[in-house]
Amino acid sequence: MNILGIETSCDETAASVVTDGVKVRSNVIATSLKDHQRFGGIIPEIASRRQIEFIHWVVAESLDKAQMTLNGIDAIAVTRAPGLLGSLLVGLSFARGLSHSTGKPLIEIDHIKAHLYANYLQLSKEFSACPLSRLPAIGLVVSGGHSSLYYVKDFKNFKLLGVTRDDAAGEAFDKVARILELGYPGGPVIDRLSGQGINDDIKFPRSPMKGSYDFSFSGTKTAVLYYTQKNKNKLDYSPAKVAYSFQESVVAVLVEKSLLACRKFKVNTLLIGGGVAANSALRRELQKQAPSQGVDVFFPPMVLCLDNAAMIAGLAYHWYNKF
Ligand code: KG4
Ligand code: ZN
Repeated sequence: MNILGIETSCDETAASVVTDGVKVRSNVIATSLKDHQRFGGIIPEIASRRQIEFIHWVVAESLDKAQMTLNGIDAIAVTRAPGLLGSLLVGLSFARGLSHSTGKPLIEIDHIKAHLYANYLQLSKEFSACPLSRLPAIGLVVSGGHSSLYYVKDFKNFKLLGVTRDDAAGEAFDKVARILELGYPGGPVIDRLSGQGINDDIKFPRSPMKGSYDFSFSGTKTAVLYYTQKNKNKLDYSPAKVAYSFQESVVAVLVEKSLLACRKFKVNTLLIGGGVAANSALRRELQKQAPSQGVDVFFPPMVLCLDNAAMIAGLAYHWYNKF
């Protein structure tokens, strides 16, 4: 079964063809990121205008790359929520129009759950994805807009255990990068810079939110702001050290809560998804700590950590049977 996926929830315009829920035949992503960079964040109006320009080309290219035409497509999948309204509307309207005109079924998918599903996608022969049989699982989605922890019973049953009470993890990375004047998006640059700032002297508060699976990152971010304001004119001030200590604080909480959920729910599969899943410290820490607790941790390949349509088409396969 071939599903054409379409994703336009934020600044990416993406389309993909996925076979039988796992085999990625094409994964085309156009981004308007450069148009937003000088503003230090995504401007919704710019994002959706660019998506109107990109959408036709991206869908045609994804069919081309999969060496298919619409005739070979069994169903169309699209991101329904969450996301920027104008951006979602571009993908939804296009997908609904395509479904109506071709008579092919339309499956509308939740973007956050799809981020976790990215772990099950087979991008190439060399990459070993999480086997579909590894359920139930605990899933951590950490992106620019979300930090959520789920109990994944199966691909239609996701129980939300906790969310962020303020900033999303990626949002905190982006805001700290702005404080340190490192540009946008902040995650990749803080990740790189941290390698040069390993230290034991700067400690930022961690907000463990005891007794809950919820997260809170704004206290850590504000501590970075105050530290920077106080110290930036001192001779030994190092943005790399600040970046490292901030990253350590965020990663420690993400690792602790994810593994706690695995223990509590007696689950030995941990799925990570979303843009922050690309973070090298998060990967390193989880790979270090999870095995000793009998947990196997999975990360999607880098290109499937960020917003993409393969995860939408893949998850849709498991919802298709309902029709
Ligand atoms: O999932 P995504 O592409 O878009 C949203 O749905 O938000 O995630 C983008 C977010 C940004 O906040 C970006 O700073 C963060 O993911 N990010 C990272 C890294 N790469 C991207 N955060 C930490 N470390 C990284 N290596
Ligand atoms: Zn996302």
